Amino acid sequence: MKHQRVLVLDFGGQYNQLIARRVRDLNVYCDLKPCEMTAEAIEAYAPVGIIFTGGPNSVYDKGAPRVDPKILQLGIPVLGICYGCQLIAHTLGGGVEHAAAGEYGNTLLTLCGEDELLAGIPLSSVCWMSHTDRVSALPEGFAMLGRTESCPVAVFGDRRRKIYGVQFHPEVVHSEYGNRLLENFLYRVCGAKGDWTMKNFAAEEVAKLKEKIGGKRVLCAMSGGVDSAVAATLVYRAAGKNLTCVFVDHGLHRKNEPEEVMKVFRDGLGMNLIEVDARELFLNALRGVTDPEEKRKIIGKLFIDVFEREAKKIGAVDFLVQGTIYPDVIESGNGKSAVIKSHHNVGGLPAVVDFKEIVEPLRDLFKDEVRSVGKELGLSDEIVWRQPCPGPALAIRIMGEVTVEKLETVREADAIFREEIVRAGLDRDVWQYFAVLTDSKTVGVQGDFRTYENVIALRAVHSVDAMTADWARIPYEVLGRTASRIAGEVKHANRVVYDITSKPPATIEWE
Ligand code: XMP
Repeated sequence: MKHQRVLVLDFGGQYNQLIARRVRDLNVYCDLKPCEMTAEAIEAYAPVGIIFTGGPNSVYDKGAPRVDPKILQLGIPVLGICYGCQLIAHTLGGGVEHAAAGEYGNTLLTLCGEDELLAGIPLSSVCWMSHTDRVSALPEGFAMLGRTESCPVAVFGDRRRKIYGVQFHPEVVHSEYGNRLLENFLYRVCGAKGDWTMKNFAAEEVAKLKEKIGGKRVLCAMSGGVDSAVAATLVYRAAGKNLTCVFVDHGLHRKNEPEEVMKVFRDGLGMNLIEVDARELFLNALRGVTDPEEKRKIIGKLFIDVFEREAKKIGAVDFLVQGTIYPDVIESGNGKSAVIKSHHNVGGLPAVVDFKEIVEPLRDLFKDEVRSVGKELGLSDEIVWRQPCPGPALAIRIMGEVTVEKLETVREADAIFREEIVRAGLDRDVWQYFAVLTDSKTVGVQGDFRTYENVIALRAVHSVDAMTADWARIPYEVLGRTASRIAGEVKHANRVVYDITSKPPATIEWE
């Protein structure tokens, strides 16, 4: 089935993926494409609507991104957001000016016109702004639809041509009626049907995979993370026992993770899942190694070696499953710097597996969509809501050399922190939360005895894409309870500290 599509043209703003996610959340499929796309290419793509995103430039900057003016003559509805809105005004002969002061954060939006785009939005509401330039004069044929105190044209549009501009960011939650505006644009202006749902996706994808795979053989590296779990489950629905999954237990996983993976996928779903016990191998290879990058390299290489050995035992396969998701596709498509992948280890696998083709059942999906598909497929919340874990796992959460004893300490501390975060109902709000075993020892007192043990650091951050992160304001009670439990229950830990650094300047992981 061919879905209706909206095209989101990327002008480099920081919320661009968020715009695409909001559109998908409203049950309309969309793609985020570089802003250089030509009118001809867009016509061939045949979207029901186009959104120009925000971006860091001023339309007057030398080399600022432009649009092909023919795009605005295709008869396809267009919504420009922030820079996208200024670009529409500039391209169609309106005015854009530098303001003396920028406008950032929550602002009162006052509507001053009627239009389908504004249906159900009150005359006065809060919107979220982040701009310096602003539209100062409307292009011919456009109507003024809304303003804020420092932005004379905050919303404008031409109902006949179905071209609109909004200076504020409807995609961020702080814009009270932002989602309503996007919904109006999609359903009232573009005439979207809302045919993009994860229920449909799961059913259609399984049918497609069945046709593609037929009775052929498929191999998948299962990491235990959400993406590989959902990808493997989709393929399993289509290929059944023709799918072989390999789970490498490197001994660096979080508490109970390997057991859970085997329980859910092998015992529960009945997948053909091979567990490779490589714990000693990894520990031996890491002995004496203290440099973080060296640890990463050793783990990455060994993982590939172990997988290669298993793949050789299995022999030639027709397909290799990869858990690539849409943000990875966008990043490489736009030629921006590569994202740090959550399963970077899988990246090296194609070179060592004898296969004909890669299948990437999740390459059109955002992370939240992957989770919804997981739910559709009946996977538990524990799997579907699992927080991202780096490939080298606990090895880079132990400062310095990795030993069995240190692994045990950080694993137990981490399990307690996770338990307390879940108990406080914070697990879905916080992007990542974990314990780190620092390489500091401090004096403590337990009972009547002096102790000299390790300091555990707790780290919890909010993030959208892991490129930047803000430390999470976890309530003191939760931190306090976690700290006393760790210092009391975990061997070789007598002190707990909380990391309150954002990224940048720090990174999320300590190593
Ligand atoms: P940093 O520490 O760079 O982490 O702020 C950003 C995100 O990437 C994850 N991360 C890794 N993932 N292999 C991975 O697969 C790695 O070596 C690695 N290092 C960091 C980290 O958990 C965070 O989500």
